[in-house]
Amino acid sequence: MFAGINEEQLVKRLSLTAREEGIFEWTRKKGMAYRRLMSYYRCAIKEVETKFRVLDEEYSLMNDRNPISGIKSRLKSLPSIVEKLERKGVDLSVEAIEENLYDVAGIRVICSFVQDVYKLAEALLNQDDVTLICVKDYIKHPKENGYRSLHLIIEIPIFLEKEKKMMKVEIQLRTIAMDCWASLEHQLRYKKSTEFTEEMQAALLNCAKISTELDREMDFLREKANI
Ligand code: GTP
Ligand code: MG
Repeated sequence: MFAGINEEQLVKRLSLTAREEGIFEWTRKKGMAYRRLMSYYRCAIKEVETKFRVLDEEYSLMNDRNPISGIKSRLKSLPSIVEKLERKGVDLSVEAIEENLYDVAGIRVICSFVQDVYKLAEALLNQDDVTLICVKDYIKHPKENGYRSLHLIIEIPIFLEKEKKMMKVEIQLRTIAMDCWASLEHQLRYKKSTEFTEEMQAALLNCAKISTELDREMDFLREKANI
């Protein structure tokens, strides 16, 4: 299939591990169904992203400022899907992905102020085609390492040619300060060449405290400015 070599030769030439070979074999068999599911998740991301852009537009008309400073979205990669299913002890199948993973489609909404996070979450959840599956409020209850964000798992319909399909989407809402901390923490933690020491952990927690303080002060200013 690739310039005159067969699949067995291709697997050898790519020096795939047994695990990677398994994934390769699976996508060869289930490729079409998998691609279809991923396309549905991409549609769901577009739907949710549009909902947030509409809310941002409306709030900016009403208040002369944008509550959303940026939106990022991502589709979980196949290796990450396989790894998470393995962690859950579930065999890989298209149905298993849909039934067991709630974060295949992910959207991150970066807000100006903490108040905007809750305002946007409430406005989204009030929409009659949005069903809340799960909420984790790491702003009111930060993680031990200092991580803060509001996580929602929702279900929304996407409208296909002949059917309406319900899709799950993970939404992370956070302020600019929370996003700054989380992005840098992620970079630091995933740097494999260095060990993440207790001293570094304590310094990161301190940064989280500073970012919480920054959000508090900014919210104070927002109230004073009456915006
Ligand atoms: P995952 O298996 O990672 O999906 O975790 P979970 O199913 O227990 O969900 P949770 O809501 O706790 O976290 C989901 C996502 O939030 C992660 O994939 C990250 O994007 C983000 N997140 C959670 N904890 C942290 C953290 O400590 N640091 C950073 N940078 N991001 C985090
Ligand atoms: Mg996740």
